[in-house]
Amino acid sequence: MSDRAPLQLVPGDLRPPAPPARRHLLSVADLERSDLERLLTTARSFALSQERDTKKLPTLRGRLVINVFYESSTRTSASFELAAKRLSADTLSIKASGSSAEKGESLKDTALTLEAMGSDAIVVRHPASGAPRRLADWTSGRVINAGDGTHEHPTQALLDAFTIRQRLVGPDQRGQGLDGLRVTIVGDVLHSRVARSNVLLLDTLGAEVTVVAPPTLMPWAIETWPCKASYDFDAELRKSDVVMMLRVQQERMSAAFFPTVREYRRRYGLDTGRMALLPEHAIVMHPGPMNRGVEIAAEVADSPRSTIVAQVANGVTVRMAVLYLMLGGAAEGLS
Ligand code: NCD
Repeated sequence: MSDRAPLQLVPGDLRPPAPPARRHLLSVADLERSDLERLLTTARSFALSQERDTKKLPTLRGRLVINVFYESSTRTSASFELAAKRLSADTLSIKASGSSAEKGESLKDTALTLEAMGSDAIVVRHPASGAPRRLADWTSGRVINAGDGTHEHPTQALLDAFTIRQRLVGPDQRGQGLDGLRVTIVGDVLHSRVARSNVLLLDTLGAEVTVVAPPTLMPWAIETWPCKASYDFDAELRKSDVVMMLRVQQERMSAAFFPTVREYRRRYGLDTGRMALLPEHAIVMHPGPMNRGVEIAAEVADSPRSTIVAQVANGVTVRMAVLYLMLGGAAEGLS
């Protein structure tokens, strides 16, 4: 238990987080269904609070949230910063370029420096898988993984689940689960931390997940993942409630994983012709940034089925929920 100020709830159905705390948010694998449901319920309350004229809540006044990004980011870093600001926390955003990381400072020394500034939470993005877990060993505050190498991106999976519920389930139906919904994740699964976190999270919430990728971009141990694997994109589309397209991550490719962009687009791109194979109610997701014209056609990205803009908006409320549950007061943590 901490000696911090008591919880300040926003009006709505927020419940105080129950002890004992999950200190960090490093991997979806650390979370149980009840943790995920609490996060999504809390995010829903914050989404309602964001419809009011006064969007800023006093909940985390006096807390310091530091964003440290060793990899480029638009959506995730802006959304964490805005989420912290909406909760009245102080925020600092540090990018590796222009920081002492460029001068060779180690992650440990950076952690100690941020700790000395009094950070309550460090939000970290890093090219090395596992870096946030190492950082958590060196700091007494909370660590939130904002994407580590090809490993995980837990808050992206949370905002994706929130968006699926918003579009296909309705906020008060079926608890916070996704039971029975069929989600197909398509593209560069091998390099995608978004795919890893989503497979774990969607499966935990009861969805049936299938990944589709070229053989060269399918992870070698895919049979150990809690999902099906398929190479037949068109067949999977016909039975999907959700299709989630992944960016082709050229920056993580050390070799040629497919013959040409044209060939990739022909086999694994989502164009209007393919979109027509989807059931009428089905939605199209993409975590961004998109390669328009490669994995997704512009007409598809901009179509009414696309949830891409909603995903960005939901990112703020989901991250408010994460910060609130991890830093919110007497009983801190995710569970
Ligand atoms: C993703 C990421 O960085 O892992 N983007 C994001 O956070 N919105 C996906 C990607 O880079 O393709």
